[in-house]
This record gives sequence, C-alpha cells and structure tokens, in this order.
Amino acid sequence: MPTKATKRSHRVKPGQREEETLRVLISHQRIRERVRQMAQEIRRDFPKEPIHLIGVLKGSVLFLADLARELGGEVSFDFISVSSYGKGMDSTGEVKMNKDLDVSIEGRSVLVVEDILDTGLTLKYLLLLFEERKPKHLRVAVLLDKVERRIADVKADYTGFVIPNEFVVGYGLDYDERYRNLPDVCVVRLGPRGKTKIEV
Ligand code: IMP
Repeated sequence: MPTKATKRSHRVKPGQREEETLRVLISHQRIRERVRQMAQEIRRDFPKEPIHLIGVLKGSVLFLADLARELGGEVSFDFISVSSYGKGMDSTGEVKMNKDLDVSIEGRSVLVVEDILDTGLTLKYLLLLFEERKPKHLRVAVLLDKVERRIADVKADYTGFVIPNEFVVGYGLDYDERYRNLPDVCVVRLGPRGKTKIEV
C-alpha cells in the first residue's frame, strides 16, 4: 500500500510544485484549431501582403511559432521585450523596455502577437510606440483575453479565446518562469484543497 505522501507526490508532474495544482482550461487541440482559424482570418484581411510579426517576449513565442506556420505566404519576425512594474501580479501601468525591435517597421504590415491581454496597459504602450514608427498597417493578435480585467482602452483585432479572470499558464505563459512548455493553457491553483492564492 502506498503511503499518503507517496500518493500525493504521484500527482505532481515534472516542473510542478507539490502545493500547486493545474487544471486544463484550453486543450492543445482547441488551441491548434483556433490558431488555424485566426491565421485564415488574418490572411483574408491581408491575402498577398508580407506580414511582419512582432512577438512580445517571452509569452508569445509558442503562439507566434504556430501562427506563423499557419499563415503561409511571406512572413517575417521580430521580437520586443517589455516589463510592467507592479506589486505581485498587479501592474501599475509603468512599462519598461528591455529589448527594442531589431528592424524598422516603417511602411510594413505589422501584426503584434501577444499571449494575453489583461489590463491592456502593456499593449497600449506598445501601440503608441509602434504608431510613431509609421507602419502601413498595425494590427494585434492575442491568444487570450481577460476582458473583465481591462483598464486601458485597447482591443485586439484577432482574439483566440476570451477567458475568465483566472491566472493561467502554459503554451508560453509562465508562473515564476515555469510552465511555459505546457501544451495546454491551464489554471494554476496554489495551496491545500485547490484554494487560489494568486490574486489577479
Ligand atoms: P497587461 O499589461 O496587464 O495587459 O499584461 C499583459 C502581460 O501580463 C502579459 O503579456 C503576461 O505576460 C502577463 N499576464 C497577465 N495575465 C497573466 C496570466 O494569467 N498568466 C501569465 N501571465 C499573465
């Protein structure tokens, strides 16, 4: 007979802490289908144009990789890294640039690729920054949208899934730099009996 401790440790997957539980919110299969549909929507709007994807590091990396393959046609990538200052999980709206784009976006059809829209403050900062650089088109694709949390007046042109106000990980999204490699989008719960301790 396994002891209680052995039983509990069996439920902990590699990379997962014992006090954390993960619940699949959106399976990889659903993500794959939706990303394919999003690529079709984008290509319908830009049938022949070269599309310049700007991935917001690091959360958008898996989404961008899948979206780029589904888009077909001429596609190029660049990446930007920003961080928002805040206490715990809350953003104050102050955004700091860690890494700028490598190439000019002037005159190009640009698609900003974001993992998740939460308060919208990061996207607002990015759109102001990019608009000044005079792209031909500036559009936004986000995989996930926590509509309830919005503070800034921004919205995406292409949205994968609207999700409830829960802290999610997987498919590029992290909790403390972990779980980015999970194929599904999962809700993380901390503590005993699934009590959520992350305030978002
Ligand atoms: P915003 O500026 O509040 O919209 O925050 C956007 C950024 O916050 C995203 O690009 C993520 O890096 C992070 N974020 C917001 N919600 C979550 C979440 O549920 N899980 C992981 N990261 C999140």
